[in-house]
Amino acid sequence: MAYAIAIDGPAGAGKSTIAKLLAAKMNYIYVDTGAMYRAMAVYFSQNNVNPQDETAINKAVENVDITIEYMEGVQQVILNGENVTHLLRTEETGKMASLTSKYGAVRTKLVDLQRKLAKTTDVIMDGRDIGTTVLPDAFVKIFLTASSDARAKRRFDELSAKGEECDYEVIKADIEKRDYDDSHREISPLKQADDAVLVDTSDMNIEQVVAAITAIIEDKKQNLQ
Ligand code: DC
Repeated sequence: MAYAIAIDGPAGAGKSTIAKLLAAKMNYIYVDTGAMYRAMAVYFSQNNVNPQDETAINKAVENVDITIEYMEGVQQVILNGENVTHLLRTEETGKMASLTSKYGAVRTKLVDLQRKLAKTTDVIMDGRDIGTTVLPDAFVKIFLTASSDARAKRRFDELSAKGEECDYEVIKADIEKRDYDDSHREISPLKQADDAVLVDTSDMNIEQVVAAITAIIEDKKQNLQ
């Protein structure tokens, strides 16, 4: 049986950093589902699909083929035969993904792919709806969160370290807007699954979070024996 660990939570909670470290430690495959919504967004941007026009989105989705490959353990997203991994983390792609991830046609296609990936391999999958919708039977579910202040501060420090000019209040407002959109959409909103363990990382460093989640997983394994 393949094991699945689901990590859900709002933007900027550190899901991907933590999931990557845990996956390496446990020898699981890390599946970044946000990257799939971003790849879909790249297609919409490249083909000038209006994110407000659901009929156009539904039609466009039929022409999209997304697959996942691994290069030295790092997830690569292939969009219609082209590796688009390097295009995924831009601000523009993030905005388009945020506007289009609410549509049923987009979600159905990507949830299908996510479930297929988890069927045959041990995965740590992160996103917004993994524990509630994609993998309701996941072995362990974590809801990883932090206050909007803590998340805005981390983002501010990250951008400042790169020498990018940024405004703390703008970053915080953007984070709060994404939280609102993610948790108020009709289909599969961001929500803690009833059986997920809440981990609030506001006052924790990365090592502490990894240790806390490892302990939750070990505890679950002990209880099975
Ligand atoms: O985690 P991220 O910023 O890479 O996600 C990009 C967008 O995709 C974000 O607006 C939330 C959305 N998303 C989603 O709706 N469901 C998921 N399982 C993962 C991401």
